Amino acid sequence: MVGRDRELARVTGLLDDALAGRGRLVLCTGEAGIGKTRLAEELAAAATARGVAVAWARAADRGGSPPYGLWRLVLAEAAVGSGSAADLWPAAFGAADLGAESSVAQRFALFAEVRGRLAQAASRSGLVLVLDDLQWADEASAVLLVEVVRQLRGTRILAFATYRDSPDGVLARLSAEANTERADLHGLPAEAVGDLLLAAGLDASPDRARRVHAETGGNPFLVRELARTLAGPLGWWLAGPRAAGTGCACRSVAVSSPSWSAPMVDDGTPRRPFARGS
Ligand SMILES: Nc1ncnc2c1ncn2[C@@H]1O[C@H](COP(=O)(O)OP(=O)(O)OP(=O)(O)O)[C@@H](O)[C@H]1O
Ligand SMILES: [Mg+2]
Repeated sequence: MVGRDRELARVTGLLDDALAGRGRLVLCTGEAGIGKTRLAEELAAAATARGVAVAWARAADRGGSPPYGLWRLVLAEAAVGSGSAADLWPAAFGAADLGAESSVAQRFALFAEVRGRLAQAASRSGLVLVLDDLQWADEASAVLLVEVVRQLRGTRILAFATYRDSPDGVLARLSAEANTERADLHGLPAEAVGDLLLAAGLDASPDRARRVHAETGGNPFLVRELARTLAGPLGWWLAGPRAAGTGCACRSVAVSSPSWSAPMVDDGTPRRPFARGS
């Protein structure tokens, strides 16, 4: 990982805090491809290296999840469950659908059970709980998360949730919690873009790094896609005089689109190759 030393130092500092009993949620936001999941992976690796348990759950894409789907995944993680993970949810809650219609008593029991299991998992050596792509979590999961976050202080749990930018109620609710820290990721600086070009085996002169930075906004996903194109058979053409000045001639890539595509060479009309936004 390049160019995120400060962010990684901050979240590992918050991990130390959590291990000392000051658990929290880190809410990591930013556009698609900016590196939210990557930062979570680096945090998870740092936690594992310290002997801290890690549980990872990724919300299902676009509403493809039952009520509490995210928490079912959490409880199915070996770090939180007891090995017979797949059976944990029905064992604890029966076949009852704990959706919007569930009774207050059922929900109270569910919330207490989840909190208890997290506390138990954290009691051994602390716990990092990664909740990836929270923007897709079902409403019931989001409500339970807010409850969990309220109780984090005093635990040895660091929750780390990634959230692709979009104005939404859950983000606002979680951001308002005292136990929440925001980590808003922006584009990498030009030097880090140069490091990514070097890692791709490309020339990374300051001028080229500056141009790629300008074209991609420092979004690591876009830098990698552009580097792949430059390293490919068309790279000589894209780096040639036709592409000079305004950058290479490529079609726009909409970063927020779910189906990203690699940049494509078009008819050579010079234009900004990478545009962010939908
Ligand atoms: N700082 C970095 N250094 C090197 N590679 C990076 C860095 N940040 C991200 N990447 C790489 O860029 C790609 C996109 O990053 P990532 O998947 O973390 O983005 P994201 O913010 O989680 O996007 P999404 O919203 O689509 O989930 C990945 O291949 C990742 O490994
Ligand atoms: Mg991601």
